[in-house]
Amino acid sequence: MDSFNNEELKKHLKVLKELGFEEIILDKKFISKDEILKERKKLLEKINEEIQICEKCDLHKSRTNAVLGEGNIETRLMFVGEAPGEEEDKQGRPFVGRAGKLLTKLIERAGYKREEFYIANICKCRPPGNRTPTLDEMEKCFPYLKEQIEIINPKVLCLLGAVAGQAFLNRKVKITKERGTVIKWNDRILLLTYHPAYVLRNPKEEETLFKDIKRAIEIAYKGL
Ligand code: URA
Repeated sequence: MDSFNNEELKKHLKVLKELGFEEIILDKKFISKDEILKERKKLLEKINEEIQICEKCDLHKSRTNAVLGEGNIETRLMFVGEAPGEEEDKQGRPFVGRAGKLLTKLIERAGYKREEFYIANICKCRPPGNRTPTLDEMEKCFPYLKEQIEIINPKVLCLLGAVAGQAFLNRKVKITKERGTVIKWNDRILLLTYHPAYVLRNPKEEETLFKDIKRAIEIAYKGL
């Protein structure tokens, strides 16, 4: 592609059309990595603009910031939580409060940095008093996350807690029974685990959350 300018490219396309070609499938290797990343950033920024003014549910009434998510947009692994808490709402960043500090610590203990992965939530706005989001709030917000997943294209989604599990599986999830479960979801892999806030309340489960995070990372890099 580099060796063509636009005019030359148009000429070549015209010739191909005259020869009867109706469709051209571009091989990904002709699109530079920089171009792909630029496009991903642009698409994510567009979603961010949408969520900052979104009024699909009542959570917008009490938000300071809608929280899109952050991290490596080329990652093989995305962590998905429930919804922003107080600190996340203030800063506009995911998992920066106490639960976030635990998540960051466990990722680092596994030998990685949180910036190597992408971190997002099912709901982009904080439910008042950190209550659990309603089904309606989850359903209205989930399409934003689905778009993020399509753009970033992670292989593995590590679902932190029952709410994230419920959104993806479309049914109630009993996380104490189902954590550690690996499930195929479209072309991706879901791994269910505890929410770090649950582990803060049940510190003896920290090792289990750590093992699940390590496993999610291993599946992301080495496969099942
Ligand atoms: N809990 C979540 O589920 N998400 C956050 O971003 C912070 C706390």
